[in-house]
Order: sequence, then structure tokens, then C-alpha cells
Amino acid sequence: MDLRPASARPGEQQVTTADAFRDVYGTGPDGTWAAPGRVNLIGEHTDYNDGFVMPFALPHTAIASVARRDDGLLRLHSGQAEGGVVEVRLDGEPAKGWAAYPAGVVWALRDAGHAVGGADIHYDSTVPTGAGLSSSAALEIVTALALNDLYDLGLQRWQLARLCQRAENVYVGAPTGIMDQTASACCTAGHALYLDTRDLSQHQIPFDLAARGLRLLVVDTQVKHAHSEGEYGKRRRGCEDAAAALGVDALRDVPYEGLDEALARLEDEEQRRLVRHVVTEDQRVERVVALLEADDVRAIGPVLTEGHTSLRDDFRVSCPELDLVVATANDAGALGARMTGGGFGGSAIILVDDASADKIADAVTAAFASGGFREPRVFVAVPSAGAVRLE
Ligand code: GLA
Repeated sequence: MDLRPASARPGEQQVTTADAFRDVYGTGPDGTWAAPGRVNLIGEHTDYNDGFVMPFALPHTAIASVARRDDGLLRLHSGQAEGGVVEVRLDGEPAKGWAAYPAGVVWALRDAGHAVGGADIHYDSTVPTGAGLSSSAALEIVTALALNDLYDLGLQRWQLARLCQRAENVYVGAPTGIMDQTASACCTAGHALYLDTRDLSQHQIPFDLAARGLRLLVVDTQVKHAHSEGEYGKRRRGCEDAAAALGVDALRDVPYEGLDEALARLEDEEQRRLVRHVVTEDQRVERVVALLEADDVRAIGPVLTEGHTSLRDDFRVSCPELDLVVATANDAGALGARMTGGGFGGSAIILVDDASADKIADAVTAAFASGGFREPRVFVAVPSAGAVRLE
């Protein structure tokens, strides 16, 4: 099994993306930007409950070469999508499919009063789609960062993340939280981002696994997930209803020490399960932060696995393939494992000792083969840089 970190080769790709822009539009771009996908270390389904999350950026990026235009036309082209150039009139019909993500960003910027007059954009992305690794947030953030620069909007990164979330919630219609966009915009290499999603305060926590003889494997189960459909929104509404029933603004306001009392006040078993997950998950984030700050990285493994159990049994957003990754990895000697991202497919993460990485990856691949599942894609996740202008 080849577990070398998948590289986004930004240097190489920058040339390719700008060249492809020239091929598509006949002239050169004004600049080229990159924004990464992410994995979330811990803190799942907490961001729309005003809670804590801890993502880090992947080396996989969406790259955009962009030229400004001021005639109300947005032209979008992607090296990964069929169908040629998509033209969107800014005062016309909304875009559909993949183009809705960047078009939504332009809509959100304009709706917030920023004078964006249009653009020509070519995208190239190495972030796997439908894998729970935030390929759409990468597309949104790279677009927002480019337009922020080209139109001199002066917006800060957290503001770009908010606008991109609004694009996704309102324009695309997916009721997601703020984690993915903030991760793509604000992560830094070698760190995990400890984010309070209520006030968006951020702490960059050093997360250098290689120096500790450890690795974090990502297993893309190749089971596609889709957020805008049903289950994600149901969980979100369930959490909001539970918060209302408990008389708090958000489940973040239920303290861990008050969990039993809160559970006793809820009649609905479904709501009890949602609350138990969110409150214990927020506490797991705090525990992971404390362990990392104490330089006890190995000890976060069991906390990751606890998080998976909670997502599987209480929040019920896992699936057989994700459960198989976690069980197989732990049986084969991993320090811990869990699903990452929204769930219902997508990816899992596994914390391993360097020496056992190959053995554990092979065990997972073999378990998928004997379970009759599609071969998973396994790679090493190295905490990488957030969004950046390349040229
Ligand atoms: C998706 C959403 C995020 C977050 C996660 C679950 O990735 O986009 O906002 O809710 O699911 O933690």
C-alpha cells in the first residue's frame, strides 16, 4: 500500500491552471489562488450547535485562475467537470450543479453589498468530491479569496468563511455549519484549528504527528454522501428543537456536568440521543486540546474512537463502511479511529504508529474486499496550509 502523502503540487498546478485558463478564455488570468480541503480531528456535528471543532487542512486544494470582469457576467470552467464553460448572469437565473457553489459566493458577496461585477474562472481541484473532505468549501473559499483580492473588498478570512457558509445555506440550499469554510480559509501548516463556532475565536494548536512517530490515515470509503438531502438537515433541526425544549440558545449551552439533568428533562428519546452526542462531543474537543497541549498525542486515540461510537449509536450518522474502518483499524492496533465530516459515507481517520501504518491500511483494505465493499482510498493526512494566493 502506497501511503505517501498525496501532494497537491501547487507549483506545478499553478502553471497548469493558469495555462488551462488561457486555453479556455483566450487571455491570461489576473491571478491564481488555492484553498484546501480538510479533515476534522474531533468535534463533529457541533458547529451548528455553537460548539467546538478541530479541523486541519489537507494538502489537497482547489486552485482557481481568475480574471476580473465588470459586465455582470460570471463564467466558470472546471478541469473536473463535464460540460464546458458555465455562464451565469449575476442578475439572472441561479446556477445549478457544481457551479452553484462559486456562483453562490458571488451572490453572497453582492447580497452583503460588495461590488463584484463578474469574473472568468478556471478551477482545478485535487480535493476528492463526495468524500467528506470539503471539496465544496475549498471551491467556495478559493473563489471568495480571489474576488476579495481582485475587487479590493478588504474582508477578513473569517468574514469570507461566513459569506461562503451563507452561499451554501441559502443559494445551494445545504444547511451546513461554519467549520469547513473556516478550516479552508484559516488553517495553518503543522496545526489543527481549535475553533469556537459561536464567536469564531481561533487557536492554532501544534499538531506535528511525524515528530512523535505517528501518522493520521484518511480512509475514503468511496461511499458518496450528500448533505442537502434529508438526514443532515433532520439532525440539525432535531438539535435546535432539543435546545428550545431545554430553554437554551444552542446545545453548546448545556454544560457537560449538567448533561444528566438535561437528559432527564427531555421526554423525546431521539432528542436525548442528539443532546448526549453534542454535549459529550464538545467535551471530547476540550479533552483533545488538553492532551495536545500536554504533548500527550497518543492519548487522543481513545477519545477519537469514543467520538465514533457516539456518532454511530447516538447521532446515527455513520454507515457500515465507516464502522468497518474503525473496528478493523482498532483490532489491527490503531491508537484510535473515527468517521470525519458529516457522515453517511465519506471518510474516516485512523491514528497509528508509523511502524504499523502499512499493516493497518492493508487490514482495512482486506476487510473491505471480504465485506464486498468498493476498494477504499487510503492516504496520510499532513496538516497543511490554508487558502493562499499563488501568483
Ligand atoms: C459537514 C458540514 C459541517 C459540519 C460537519 C459535521 O462537513 O459542512 O458544517 O456540520 O458536516 O461536523
